[in-house]
Amino acid sequence: MTKQWWKESVVYQIYPRSFMDSNGDGIGDIKGIISKLDYLQELGIDVVWLSPVYQSPNDDNGYDISHYKQIMDEFGTMADWEEMLEEMHKRKIKLVMDLVVNHSSDEHAWFVESKKSKDNPYRDYYIWRSGKDGKEPNNWESVFSGSAWEYDEATDEYFLHLFSKKQPDLNWENPTLRNEIYDMMKFWLDKGIDGFRMDVINFISKVPGLPNAPAQEGKKYASGHEYFMNGPRIHEFLQEMNREVLSHYDSMTVGEMPGVTPDEAVLYTGEDRDEVNMVFQFEHMDVDSGPGGKWDLIPFDLVKLKSILTKWQTELHGKGWNSLYWNNHDQPRIVSRLGSDGDYRVKSAKMLGTLLHMMQGTPYIYQGEEIGMTNVRFPSIDEYKDIETLNMYKEKREEGKSHEEIMKSIYVKGRDNARTPMQWNSRENAGFTEGTPWINLNPNYEQINAEEALNDPDSVFYYYQKLISLRKQYEIIPYGSFELLEKDHPSLYAYIRTYGDEKLLVLCNVSSDEQVAGHVAEFDLSKAEILLTNDDERVEPSLTLKPWEATVYYLKRK
Ligand code: NOJ
Repeated sequence: MTKQWWKESVVYQIYPRSFMDSNGDGIGDIKGIISKLDYLQELGIDVVWLSPVYQSPNDDNGYDISHYKQIMDEFGTMADWEEMLEEMHKRKIKLVMDLVVNHSSDEHAWFVESKKSKDNPYRDYYIWRSGKDGKEPNNWESVFSGSAWEYDEATDEYFLHLFSKKQPDLNWENPTLRNEIYDMMKFWLDKGIDGFRMDVINFISKVPGLPNAPAQEGKKYASGHEYFMNGPRIHEFLQEMNREVLSHYDSMTVGEMPGVTPDEAVLYTGEDRDEVNMVFQFEHMDVDSGPGGKWDLIPFDLVKLKSILTKWQTELHGKGWNSLYWNNHDQPRIVSRLGSDGDYRVKSAKMLGTLLHMMQGTPYIYQGEEIGMTNVRFPSIDEYKDIETLNMYKEKREEGKSHEEIMKSIYVKGRDNARTPMQWNSRENAGFTEGTPWINLNPNYEQINAEEALNDPDSVFYYYQKLISLRKQYEIIPYGSFELLEKDHPSLYAYIRTYGDEKLLVLCNVSSDEQVAGHVAEFDLSKAEILLTNDDERVEPSLTLKPWEATVYYLKRK
């Protein structure tokens, strides 16, 4: 396995709309980001992944791009962006930009042209089809509810949109379109960025003929994922992108890939494959989803989580590379989801950080995770802003579900849990803005905020700082092999990493009760050093773990 800077890095994700507002319009912006770079430097991260800052009508908060080479007015100017990049590089922080090219905005000039007529030169940049028997071309469902097709009266055809109807899918079968995208990528790389996070990049190749999906009982539309996830030309497209663009730069790439399996991830990230460096897989994020999908709530099953993450640890080892994440702008806050956001908030947040950061892969921290921010519960649907949540609410209400029942799933899974403004201090609007925030704050900002964390040596912030610095000091963390212990234990997460003559034992208690790790015999605890613990009283090694304890032991054979 080769050593690479991006295998040894820790990434911090910024969702610009909710990070820091500098001009009082209630919306986070680039100058706001610049003002917080010292904070990120203190945390010690190596790379920032910045969610989209391009021109956009914001139907999906920037994931609907109307101009790929311009900065969104609300976020600032290109000069601000250039200053931000310079200030990041000065602090040795790299910048990875979001690449959203499965779809554009319907307000992109390409789509405006494409809509004009069937023989417009841009028609074929998108996926247009005639209806069938007066209905949509197929039965695919949009990820954001309803049909994945929108009818256009002027030309009497439908266009495909796997997400909102303001996010028409681009037609990757068209080489001219692909070249436009490669040019755009070079534009940003030539400006000095350090890589791309690629939005739903394994959706870009659709099965020819766009066949109907198997009908789902009681549903008008059905998920057509087998016809667009990991489609027939996906590897060819990514290899072409690599040849044309990425191979000419020292960059880092991460492909967001719903539905990807470890076998496919080896194809996407294998070192001899020349596609992308790592993937975002979703299997561990689906552990608390029932057969009805994301909104169908079931309890988090730790044994299942362990088996999924272990499969990813072992099957990619030496063959590919994975990312490690609990949170992003699409996921609820992990301390509320899998930890305990009441009395044990700080302790369980640290435990979850340990569990993740001691594994193999490149860790991602989502803004606010480093201070243990929690989910939010707004009583009224009017306080929610996310298109996915709002569409789902409307659809379920029409199907007769009660407000209370729907809100329950929004509280657990809604994307706005991650999008409430970053909590900087306990003053008005948590120091995020001097105006009216575009989305309400989590009222707990008076207790949970960055200022408080920076003043407390025992905070989650300083613990994450340690996790990051350990990765730099111990090669075993990025490069060691992985073995799961206590496989069937319902509340303990334990594993061993091995690298040459070194070993790490990671013991995590995922519960509010004491737990005993009885199956770690091959590791001689008495000779081990405590590398890290979230328990103030843990001075002697012990197999009895206190509630939410995480302790990492290090052993080097002499
Ligand atoms: C994945 C992004 O992370 C999400 O926020 C977005 O809504 C969809 N892709 C569509 O771009």
